[in-house]
Amino acid sequence: MCGIIGYTGPLDSKKILLNGLSQLEYRGYDSAGAALCMENSHICLVRRTGKVANLKETMERITDVSHCGLGHTRWATHGGVTTQNTHPHQAGKVTLVHNGIIENYHQLTEQFHLEAKLHSETDSEVAAWVLDSLYQGDPLEAITRLVALIKGSYSFCIMFEDYPGEIYAIRNVSPLVAAYTRSGSFVASDLTALIPYTRQYFVVPEDHIVRLTSYKVHLYNLQRHEEMPELMEVNWNMDAAMKNGFPHFMLKEIHEQPEALRNTILPRLSKGLPDFTDDQIPDDVFTSCSQIHIVACGTAMHAGMAARSMMEPLLRIPVTVSVASEFRYEEPLIGEDTLVIIISQSGETIDTLAAMRLAKNYGAAALSVVNVKGSTIARESDYTLYTHAGPEIAVASTKAYSVQLAALYMIGCRMALVRGKYSVPQATEFMKKLLNAIPAMEAMIAQKDSIKALVTHLINKSDAFFIGRGLDYAFSLEGALKLKEISYIHAEAYAAGELKHGTIALITEEVPVIAIATQEKVFAKTISNIREVKARGAFVILITKEDAVLDRGVADIHIRIPKIGDRFTVFPIAVVLQLIAYYASTGKNLDVDQPRNLAKSVTVE
Ligand code: F6R
Repeated sequence: MCGIIGYTGPLDSKKILLNGLSQLEYRGYDSAGAALCMENSHICLVRRTGKVANLKETMERITDVSHCGLGHTRWATHGGVTTQNTHPHQAGKVTLVHNGIIENYHQLTEQFHLEAKLHSETDSEVAAWVLDSLYQGDPLEAITRLVALIKGSYSFCIMFEDYPGEIYAIRNVSPLVAAYTRSGSFVASDLTALIPYTRQYFVVPEDHIVRLTSYKVHLYNLQRHEEMPELMEVNWNMDAAMKNGFPHFMLKEIHEQPEALRNTILPRLSKGLPDFTDDQIPDDVFTSCSQIHIVACGTAMHAGMAARSMMEPLLRIPVTVSVASEFRYEEPLIGEDTLVIIISQSGETIDTLAAMRLAKNYGAAALSVVNVKGSTIARESDYTLYTHAGPEIAVASTKAYSVQLAALYMIGCRMALVRGKYSVPQATEFMKKLLNAIPAMEAMIAQKDSIKALVTHLINKSDAFFIGRGLDYAFSLEGALKLKEISYIHAEAYAAGELKHGTIALITEEVPVIAIATQEKVFAKTISNIREVKARGAFVILITKEDAVLDRGVADIHIRIPKIGDRFTVFPIAVVLQLIAYYASTGKNLDVDQPRNLAKSVTVE
C-alpha cells in the first residue's frame, strides 16, 4: 500500500524516481508526487492526483537537474485524493514520504500543537511536523526520537534541509529495501524499483534506519550503532517485471503459470517425491502436529480453502482456514500441537503478519508459503516454502495463486507420506498427477479465444453467481473474487447445494451462473443444482472435465478441461476463471492491472 522511493547519486534523480514510481504504481495509484533536491539545496516539490503518468507530465517540464530525491505513489487512507494530501509532505526542514498508518496522529497533533500548521488531512504530515519539532541538527537522533513517539506501521524516506544529497529511511512493518551501486544509492518499498540498477540489495530490518549518500548506504539500529546489511541477490530479471508484448500484466502472468509451477515444483522433487530438505523444513514439522490452521487473506485464503478440501480427507486431521483479519483478534484454539500455514504472495500483508505473530505466541509452529524473498512473513516464520512465481505486478493475483496451490499440494503429499497415510507409490502417483496439471493449464490458455467469446454473455450483467461443491466450491470463491475486482460485476460464490436455502431467490434470466462440476463424488448432485438455476432462467456456463456426460440443455455454454485427477482440476480451472475475469474487464474497457480502490500489497489493517 503506497510505494515509496529515494535516490541519491550521479544520475538524474527525476528519471530514476519516475521509473521507480511506474514500477511501484501497483501499490497504489490515487496520486503521486516527488521532491527533488536541486543544486542550490532548494527542494522542488511536484504533486499530482491520479496516476504516475500525470506526475510525469509535470516533471518533464523541469529542466534543472537534481541528483537526490524522494517519490511516492499513494493509496489513500487518511484524507481524500487531493493534491494537498499527496506526498511528499514538507514541514520546516523536513521533507518526507510515508507508507503505512500512524495510529496516534490525533494525539501527536495535540501534543505538538500542530493543528494550525497542517496543510493536509494525512497522518503522514503530522509525522513530518513531529520530526521537524524533534530535529536539532542530527537526523539520526531526531528519527529515533520520532520512533519512540509514533504508533503504527510505517516506512519513511526523509530529506533534511541541512543535509542536501542525503536520504534517511526508517522502517517498522511496512516493507523497505535498499541498495548501493555504481549508479548511486537507492531505497524503495520493493525490489521492482531497483532491478534496473542492481542485482544486489538488502531488506531493511524492522526498526532500523538507513542513511543514503551518493556512494554508500549505512544501516543503523535504533541505538544508532552501525550494522552490516545482509546482502541478497535478485533471482529474477527485469523482463519478469515488464509486459513483454502482452497488453496487460495480468494476461502475461496468466500465461506464465505453467512455468511458475515448474519452477516451484521441480526443484523440490527427489525421486518423484516432494522433498523440502533444501527449504530446511524437517519432517517432524509435519509429524508432530495434530491439526493444521491455514491463515491468509483474499486470493491466498482461497488457495488455503482449496488446500483444506484436499488435505483434510487425505491426512485425517482437522484443517481449518481463517481470514487473517478475523483470526488476529480471536482467541484461537491452537497451541504447540498446531501447524499454522501462512500464505502470502507479498509476505507483507499486515493482517496475515499479525495473525502469524499471534499464532506463534500461542506456541504454534508457523510455516509460511511466500513469493517475495526476504519479506517480513518469510523472515519471521519458523519455516518458509518460497513459491517461485517471479514478480506479480497485476493487482489481481493469478500466478501467485496457482503456485501457492502447488506448494500446498506438495506439503499435503509430504505430510501424507511421513504420517503414513500414503505409501511411496501413492505419493509418487500424487506428484505425477500434480505435474499433469501443468499441460492441462497450457491447454486452457490455448483456449483463450473461446473463453473471450463467451464473456459477451457476462459483460452487460450486473450480477453473477459461481457455484460448485467441495473443491469446486473452493475454486468458485476465487472465480467470483477475480470477476468482482477487475470487472466490477457483483459476483458471489455459493456452495451449489446451499443456493436453494434462500439465495436462489436472486436467480433470474439476468443472472449468469458459472457452475463448476469436476468432482466425481458430487458431480450428479451439482448437475441437479444447475438444473434448479436453469429452471429459473439463468444463463449457465458450465465447466467440467472433457469426459463428462451431460444431458442436452443442462448448460448454455460448456467449457471442458482436460481429464486429470479430481484433486488437481483447480489448476486448469484457475486459468479459465482468470481469463473470464480478464476478458470481462477488457470487454468493459476497464483498467485490468490497476482496478479502482485496490492496491497490490495491503500493508494497512
Ligand atoms: C486478489 C488479491 C488479494 C490478495 C490478498 C493477499 O486478486 O490479490 O486478495 O490475495 O490481498 O495478499 P498477499 O498474498 O500478498 O498476502
